Amino acid sequence: MTKINALITGVQGYLPEYILTNDELSTMMDTSDEWIMSRIGIKTRHILKGEGLGTSDMAVVAVQKLLEETNTKPEDVDLLICATVTPDMQFPATANIICDKVGITNAFSFDINAACSGFIYSLVTGSKYIESGQYKKVIVVGADKMSSIVDYQDRAVAPIFGDAAGAIMLEPTTEDLGIIDSILRSDGSGRIYLHQKAGGSVKPASHETINAREHYIYQEGQAVFKWAVSKMADVSVEMMERHNISSEELTWLVPHQANMRIIDATAKRMGLQREQVMINIEKYGNTTSGTIPLCLWDYKNELKKGDKLILSAFGGGFTWGSIYVKWGYNAK
Ligand code: UT7
Repeated sequence: MTKINALITGVQGYLPEYILTNDELSTMMDTSDEWIMSRIGIKTRHILKGEGLGTSDMAVVAVQKLLEETNTKPEDVDLLICATVTPDMQFPATANIICDKVGITNAFSFDINAACSGFIYSLVTGSKYIESGQYKKVIVVGADKMSSIVDYQDRAVAPIFGDAAGAIMLEPTTEDLGIIDSILRSDGSGRIYLHQKAGGSVKPASHETINAREHYIYQEGQAVFKWAVSKMADVSVEMMERHNISSEELTWLVPHQANMRIIDATAKRMGLQREQVMINIEKYGNTTSGTIPLCLWDYKNELKKGDKLILSAFGGGFTWGSIYVKWGYNAK
């Protein structure tokens, strides 16, 4: 039987209008553009403002543009997966809400929570449904309103994150293109370094948890940094070795955008030049589930059929992984 691969046939993104600069952050906390640029590499991040607006509102715009780009009717979509750590509400799944708002009525949908690795976990999951032969149009959207869980009194966390959504369409192909291979890993012992203390079943929301600011991101930055640097590179190098891809042969590394120093260290271990790495961290910061589709969106006019891409991420959990993609079409 001919093998079916999952091909990315469209990419879109959405960034909220409001831009939070390092200079504005410096008026809110003891920080500076110089520190943020040299330690993280972020200049600006987009923030979703407005009463009653959440993660689904950003995802909806990205998905609507994706349907337009791929000439797809909402009712023809089979499955929508939303990667997020900032769902509209604890339940139902944000994916269900997105489908309702967009008019995707013949599909099933669910969320995946793998923190900053959410998009790659979801992309692999979506690709398996396509490879089964039963599903023809699968949307994977990565969306996070990180500003809803960032403590703007915590200078070690606030500069890092931004809000955004990115979405891709997966469709079947029998060509040797698309999602070729993946390595996904998790290690829950890493949760002590990066988590949200309250609001879950262990510590439901109370006046005390609010007063203790426990609904915000708790991060021990240096520990996360060390893990990220080694794990992202490990799985990316392993993927190159598995497929005999030399540094020169790899067209693009598409890394999660958490810290410019983590991106540089990963690229160095892979033997890559800066020109082979998709980078937009300076403009958007770490948008968690949004980073990888936003990179593909920003760089899509440079992508050609057959280009070899490695997508790579590390995040809370800990979770990490890499995906080998052979790009499916020339820039439209
Ligand atoms: O996607 C997964 C999500 N997270 C990550 O990937 C984060 C990984 N970690 C990191 O990116 C870095 O650890 C951070 C950017 C969070 C922090 O950078 P760092 O180089 O590890 O700084 P540090 O925590 O070692 O702090 C160095 C100094 C400290 O001052 P003292 O103790 O040396 O006087 C901090 O208090 O920098 C200080 N500092 C700041 N100074 C100015 C921390 N945050 C700031 C700030 N502005 N925003």
